[in-house]
Amino acid sequence: MSHILILGGDGYLGWPTAMHLSSRGHEVTVVDNYYKRAICKDLHINPLYEVPDLSVRAKRWHEITGKEIKVCVSDLTNINSMNALFNGKCNYDWCVEKKYTGIPDTIVHYAEQPSAPYSLMNNTTANNTISNNLLVTNNLLYSVKEYSRDSHIIKLGTMGEYGTPNIDIEEGWIDIEHNGRNGKFLFPRQGSSIYHTTKVMDTDLIWFAVRTWELKVTDLMQGPVYGIETEESIIDKDLSIIFFYDEIFGTILNRFITQAIIDYPLTVYGKGGQTRGYLNIKDTMQCIEKAVINPAKDSELRIFNQITETFSVNQLADKVYNVGQQLGFNVMIESIENPRKEAEEHYYNPKYQGLLELGVKPHYLDDLVLEGMFNQVIKYRDNIKKDIIFKGIKWI
Ligand SMILES: NC(=O)c1ccc[n+]([C@@H]2O[C@H](COP(=O)([O-])OP(=O)(O)OC[C@H]3O[C@@H](n4cnc5c(N)ncnc54)[C@H](O)[C@@H]3O)[C@@H](O)[C@H]2O)c1
Repeated sequence: MSHILILGGDGYLGWPTAMHLSSRGHEVTVVDNYYKRAICKDLHINPLYEVPDLSVRAKRWHEITGKEIKVCVSDLTNINSMNALFNGKCNYDWCVEKKYTGIPDTIVHYAEQPSAPYSLMNNTTANNTISNNLLVTNNLLYSVKEYSRDSHIIKLGTMGEYGTPNIDIEEGWIDIEHNGRNGKFLFPRQGSSIYHTTKVMDTDLIWFAVRTWELKVTDLMQGPVYGIETEESIIDKDLSIIFFYDEIFGTILNRFITQAIIDYPLTVYGKGGQTRGYLNIKDTMQCIEKAVINPAKDSELRIFNQITETFSVNQLADKVYNVGQQLGFNVMIESIENPRKEAEEHYYNPKYQGLLELGVKPHYLDDLVLEGMFNQVIKYRDNIKKDIIFKGIKWI
């Protein structure tokens, strides 16, 4: 069993990943500086329900399961804070035994500003996104180079790095023949927001570190995740996953279900033909676990496309409409002017075999899954704030 650091452990994906890996016997430390909570406070954005801070959650996890998730609250844009995770100088905010666990076998890097609309609100939010995301990634690479070259980094990228090219999207790499010669290159990237562009720049930094310092990295090009619960999060209310439904931090399906519940028309941007790859949060857990137990090789940058199926916005809206109507909600769909700069009809054919070959068994988006999400979200109907659902942050 490995010792795993989860950077960004307070987030939508970080906390459930911590519980998932801890329950499977791994020794887990979560690190976060509540950066996301601070942004939400500034912007008056609330999650669907409040979740306790990491120390409370980790303590509860220990009371229920007897397992320890160590908690460290620190800003990873600071190189000393990052180094402390590797050189034994870390001050834990919560742990059972104040004992350093040693060099990590794996680092799961989630600790970034994850919203495209936030990154395009204004120059300040764009700068925050660029500096936060690139500094955390660069610090991580430097700390691993300095202290822990055998550690496996699992980095969360996004399918949005590729954009929507008019050719099939490979898993990270492409063979190119040019003027009679061949070479293997990173698949062309063209992020559609400042946020996506930071992910492209992360990939470049990582590729440099792999070539130069011989690190081993798995870069996961993840699509938008949906879902509100995992096997572990349903054990106790204090272990719940933080769930956003607003335009800035809520992913599309989580948002649409919330909108349907309060009779807020599903906001389809433009023609609604925008197609992306999606996955259930339970499959994010599986993908990370498979990457942990099947690490990249030394000096390898391994890239997987982390999605399980593709849908257009119209298809997602229709699915939510159908299930919502069956459950008795008055679901409406409204096409509105697209605040984003993106193709509304386009070719989209990404490959996503790699993680399936490692053994991931997808949870596909069927009516039962949607019904389950409706049944969870409706419990918190009174908490839903209508005014944060759509603010129309413009790309241009
Ligand atoms: N959720 C999705 O649908 C999705 C899709 C594709 C990629 N991703 C990527 O996966 C990762 C996790 O996404 P998420 O939805 O859980 O986001 P999230 O915002 O809920 O979690 C990220 C966490 O990182 C922390 N963080 C950010 N900067 C930090 C810093 N400087 N120091 C310490 N902690 C810091 C935040 O406080 C937050 O708790 C992100 O990198 C995101 O870009 C997410």
